[in-house]
Amino acid sequence: MKKVITYGTYDLLHFGHIRLLERAKELGDYLVVGVTSDGFDKIRGKINVQQSLMERIEAVKATGIADEIIVEEYEGQKIDDIRRLGIDVFTVGSDWVGYFDYLKEYCEVVYLDRTKGISSTEIRQKDRNVRLGFVGGSAHNILHKYYTESLVVNGAEVAGIYNMGQTLETLRDEPVQMFDDYDSLFNSCDALYIVSKPELHYEHVKKALLAGKHVLCEAPMALRMEEIEELEALAKEKKLILMDAIKTAYATAYNRLLLIVKSGRIGDVVSVDATCTSLSKFENKEDYVAKNWNSICAWGPTALLPVFQLLGTNYEKKNRKSLYFDREKKFDSFTRISFDYPKAVANIKVGVGAKSEGELVVSGTKGYVYVPAPWWKTDYFEVRYENQEKNKRYFYQLDGEGIRYELSAFIKAISSKTQNRFIDFPVSKEIVRVIDDFYQE
Ligand code: CTP
Repeated sequence: MKKVITYGTYDLLHFGHIRLLERAKELGDYLVVGVTSDGFDKIRGKINVQQSLMERIEAVKATGIADEIIVEEYEGQKIDDIRRLGIDVFTVGSDWVGYFDYLKEYCEVVYLDRTKGISSTEIRQKDRNVRLGFVGGSAHNILHKYYTESLVVNGAEVAGIYNMGQTLETLRDEPVQMFDDYDSLFNSCDALYIVSKPELHYEHVKKALLAGKHVLCEAPMALRMEEIEELEALAKEKKLILMDAIKTAYATAYNRLLLIVKSGRIGDVVSVDATCTSLSKFENKEDYVAKNWNSICAWGPTALLPVFQLLGTNYEKKNRKSLYFDREKKFDSFTRISFDYPKAVANIKVGVGAKSEGELVVSGTKGYVYVPAPWWKTDYFEVRYENQEKNKRYFYQLDGEGIRYELSAFIKAISSKTQNRFIDFPVSKEIVRVIDDFYQE
């Protein structure tokens, strides 16, 4: 019996896939189809796949062409599969010509002509091109990163930028339309990414929601509790997506870390300690204070994220100490907040006027998780125990600092009409409460 194997993602199964499977089958008597896992696709840079692994497997199964379906999970697995399953022929489409010649050592390699004029990428683009507007104001480098990342996210199309009347030197050579006023940007977009100024976020988000636009807003999306509650209710009423833009929440490693801790691998969590700092040079203090975000707004949301996601929001006591650049303007250069929970504690340290080790440590009754600096761009962490032999290291690919996954999640949320599952509203609201208290105390 001649055994043939072929691999693919098979997202939104189309005619090109079916033709390839039919011809692959004709190369032998028995066809094995390898369907890529979600994780493996992410590592390969395919982040826009719409269907889950199960849906894609079901679709391949439904063609009735495959005799056996396996999941492709890791780099180099093809060699393993070919040996293990006794494969005679490996085949893929002509878009891969030459790429798999290294498999000739193990079996025959055949590249089949790709069907012209159809691909999953094209179907995904046709399905839902969300026109994305960008609202800037102060954090130009962040706006720039989001703009650049949106260019590689399937289903997103840049409608233009409104930067509150200021020129954006770094985007000068980009072919992007600049808008002079916020309202006119509305007419050209379906959704907005907002990173204006913390004190303006509420106003900008509210206006966008009232105009029927989906919103991804840099945290904090408001400075007062009642404001974020109003925004949440408005988004619900208008059936719009409203998401916090904290890029760390969308990184694969950070999500795996949450799951590992929640599944009890380090026992009960007794402490979450997160530090986030960044230090920039400046000449004039007043100018710096006017143009930049204070420590609590720049870093508070990120540092608070693992605290509230791991320990919940029902702490008993909160204690804060801030050092100030400008006390009257509430511009903190460094802030430490500690939380007392019934059976745990948490500490965050944030600063734009101090430098420290930007690590995250989650301590438990059986062991702890250590994420080295800068933990907010997590691609690696360790689970450590008293007995070092039991220690485990985890690495997950992180492209575009997590921004790419975040934008992709935003586009997916819009097309599937389901709110964001990465940061729940109770967590967003608790972050705003802490910041609200900072300004009121
Ligand atoms: N294929 C094909 N003809 C097409 C599209 C895909 O023969 N028009 C083949 C590919 O060469 C590959 C298999 O189908 O051998 C699975 O491809 P996959 O990457 O899942 O599909 P694409 O449509 O190419 O997906 P994408 O646009 O996401 O790259």
